[in-house]
Amino acid sequence: VAEFSLRPRYLAEYIGQAQAKENLKIYIEAAKMRREALDHVLLYGPPGLGKTTLSNIIANELGVNLRTTSGPAIERPGDLAAILTNLQENDVLFIDEIHRLHRTVEEVLYPAMEDYALDIIIGKGPSARSVRLDLPPFTLIGATTRVGLLSAPLRDRFGVVSRLEYYTVDELSYIVSRTADLLQVSIVGEAAREIGMRSRGTPRIANRLLKRVRDFAQVKGDGIITQEITQQALMSIQVDPLGLDEIDHKMLRAIILSFQGGPVGLDTIAASIGEESQTIEDVYEPYLLQIGFLQRTPRGRMITPSACKHLGLPMPSRS
Ligand code: ADE
Repeated sequence: VAEFSLRPRYLAEYIGQAQAKENLKIYIEAAKMRREALDHVLLYGPPGLGKTTLSNIIANELGVNLRTTSGPAIERPGDLAAILTNLQENDVLFIDEIHRLHRTVEEVLYPAMEDYALDIIIGKGPSARSVRLDLPPFTLIGATTRVGLLSAPLRDRFGVVSRLEYYTVDELSYIVSRTADLLQVSIVGEAAREIGMRSRGTPRIANRLLKRVRDFAQVKGDGIITQEITQQALMSIQVDPLGLDEIDHKMLRAIILSFQGGPVGLDTIAASIGEESQTIEDVYEPYLLQIGFLQRTPRGRMITPSACKHLGLPMPSRS
C-alpha cells in the first residue's frame, strides 16, 4: 500500500478536528454553490496534526487541482509568479511552512491574494514601470507551526484561520485501527488504544508507531498486533507510557538535574542536550506544555511536579 493512500481523501473520512472540519465543510459547500474560489485558509498548529492532509481534502472536496509548495522552496518572486500564473480557475495552492517565505516573495502574494493580480516591474531605472497581470481566482492554503512568526499583513489576508488541536486518545485509537485496516494488519482494540495513548496527540506519530509495532508483531509474534506485543515493541523503541521518547526524557532530566527545575532558557536546554532550539520549540515543547510537564515563564522553562513524578525524580527545591 503506497504511503499517500493512507491519508483520508474526503472530510467524511477525516477523524478529529471537529470544529475545523464542520466549519470548513460549510465554506467549501458555499464556495461550490457560488462557483467561486474558496477564501484563503490559514492552518496552524503543532506538526503532524494533518495540515497537509486537510489541504488535500479541501482541494478534493472542491473538485479542483492542488499545487503544493513550501515557504523555503520559493526562493525568488519569479518562482511564485510562475506558480501563480500556471493555476487554473479556483485551484488550491498549498504553501507549507508559510512563515518561512522570503519577504520579497511575500510582497508578491499580497495583491495575488487580495485582487488575484500580479504586479510585475518591467525595465530598469527611470523607464521602469509596473504592469498588472490578472490571475485566475484561486485559494491559498497556508500552513504553519509558528503562527506568531507570520507578518500581520499576511495573516490578515486569510479569510479562514483555523487552529488544529491535539487529538484525543479515542480519535487516535480510531485512526490507528483505520490505518491498520488499510495496511491489512490485524490489531486488537487494546493495542490500538495503547498506541493512541502513546502518540502525543499526533496522528503522524500514531501511524509511525503502528508501523514499528507491526514489524515486531511480524518478526516476534504471529503478525497479529496484540496489546502485549505493542507494549514490548514500544518499550524496545523507548516510547514511554505517555509517548515521551528519549529526547523528551533528556530534556526533562536536564531541566531537573542540571538547572534545578528552571527557569532556564530554551537555548541553554538545547545546548545542554545537543538538540536544535527550533526542534525543541516546534516539536517537543508544545506537547510537554499541553500535558502540564513544562511551564513557560518570562525567564524560561520550568519543570512541574507532575513531570518529576513521571520520571521518578524529586522536585528540585529552589533555594
Ligand atoms: N490519518 C492521519 N490523520 C488522520 C485523520 N485525521 N483522520 C483519518 N485518518 C488519518
